[in-house]
Amino acid sequence: MTIFRGTFLDTPEDPFTGGTLRADVDAGLLVEDGVIRERAPYAELRRRHPAEEVVDLTGGVVLPGFVDTHVHFPQVRVIGGLGMPLLDWLERCALPEEARMADLGYATGVAADFVRGLASAGTTSALVFGAHYAPAVDALFTEAARVGVRVTSGLVVSDRLLRPELLTGPAQAYDDSIALAKRWHGVGRSRYAVIPRFALSCTDGLLASCAAVLAEVPDALATSHVNENPREIATVAELCDGRSYVETYWASGLLGPRTVLAHNVHPTDAELALLADAGSAVAHCPTSNAALGSGLFPLARHLSYGVRVALGSDVGAGTGFSLLKEGLQAYFAQQLLGPDGHPLSPAHLLHLATSAGAAALDLPDVGDLSVGQSFDAQWLRPAPGSPLDVGLAHTADGEEALARVFALGTAADVRAVWVSGEQVDLAPPRPGDLEVVAG
Ligand code: GUN
Ligand code: ZN
Repeated sequence: MTIFRGTFLDTPEDPFTGGTLRADVDAGLLVEDGVIRERAPYAELRRRHPAEEVVDLTGGVVLPGFVDTHVHFPQVRVIGGLGMPLLDWLERCALPEEARMADLGYATGVAADFVRGLASAGTTSALVFGAHYAPAVDALFTEAARVGVRVTSGLVVSDRLLRPELLTGPAQAYDDSIALAKRWHGVGRSRYAVIPRFALSCTDGLLASCAAVLAEVPDALATSHVNENPREIATVAELCDGRSYVETYWASGLLGPRTVLAHNVHPTDAELALLADAGSAVAHCPTSNAALGSGLFPLARHLSYGVRVALGSDVGAGTGFSLLKEGLQAYFAQQLLGPDGHPLSPAHLLHLATSAGAAALDLPDVGDLSVGQSFDAQWLRPAPGSPLDVGLAHTADGEEALARVFALGTAADVRAVWVSGEQVDLAPPRPGDLEVVAG
């Protein structure tokens, strides 16, 4: 058993429904077999367990590992294509790179870049858009399993309007998806998700084949994009006989409590009601929404309909892996909406980046650091003298500390990450490591 000593910040109670930030300064977590067994003030825990080793994480803050509910594996090398709306960006930036995933050697290198990017940003669980090619998806799962990150992913499928080499017919999509699910679903920390890219690029027949995979693979997830950009939405309305965007997924049997739809910047009220009724979640990707000029996310409307929301980095269209940056941008977006915005406290931001994501991905053992939960955690330890270090040294309480973390923190401040109590190897190695005190 190991005692982790530090300042722990988490949101076991949802701040959108009256919960508050839990901030325990100089506390201890006793971890055995990857699970948090006890949680108490450090001195008390140490008295109870004088012989256990102690990992000293004082001098920063410890947060639950982040849960990224929408991120594209093949896009890690094309982050930063600014200045274009969605459909132009897809054509010029994202899809040419996605076509390169046909080369397994290339895809394997991208998988290494991608998983390192996730873990280095403190993300321990993610719902990942895989690739349009099954061997590339294998490469992603293989690398995620090697590093230890919890990845839910699958074959991305489309059968119209994209460049021809990215298209897969319904029968092939079904066979490849089932084969991938057999290899990876429920194996270690990996799970399978069906991933029609978006209704614009998927016929009803292809959506039906995705639903058939979903029915065949117990507890698989479903994910796609929705209502991101006005031109995209108008095209979907034309292609789908005037059905709303959300209705296209619903009509195919793809909408349920294990469905996560990304963006939803421009939903109608009827679509929000349908999402709430289905218990589906929305992945809010605020830097992507800003970078592509997609719009300001109507969080208050989602909340008023009872639609579950969590954060996603999107990555290619976004600006990197850090959910700290996504949290800050989510806060900015709500500020810019004025009276239509939902004011976000630091506790809301942490919840959106951790426990809300865990709920959206149906990962009940992660998202907070309560007794009984898996020790999926990150230690943020800013460089001495950096603005965040100075800020953390001058805080009145945990809420203020967390505000500074979201305002100033970056992936460079993430010094160590654990999944199920196992420390993740964050390559390249960072200097100045943990102090382990023998019991
Ligand atoms: N819609 C369809 N594909 C994509 C994608 O790769 N990124 C974003 N942001 N939206 C999409
Ligand atoms: Zn996306």
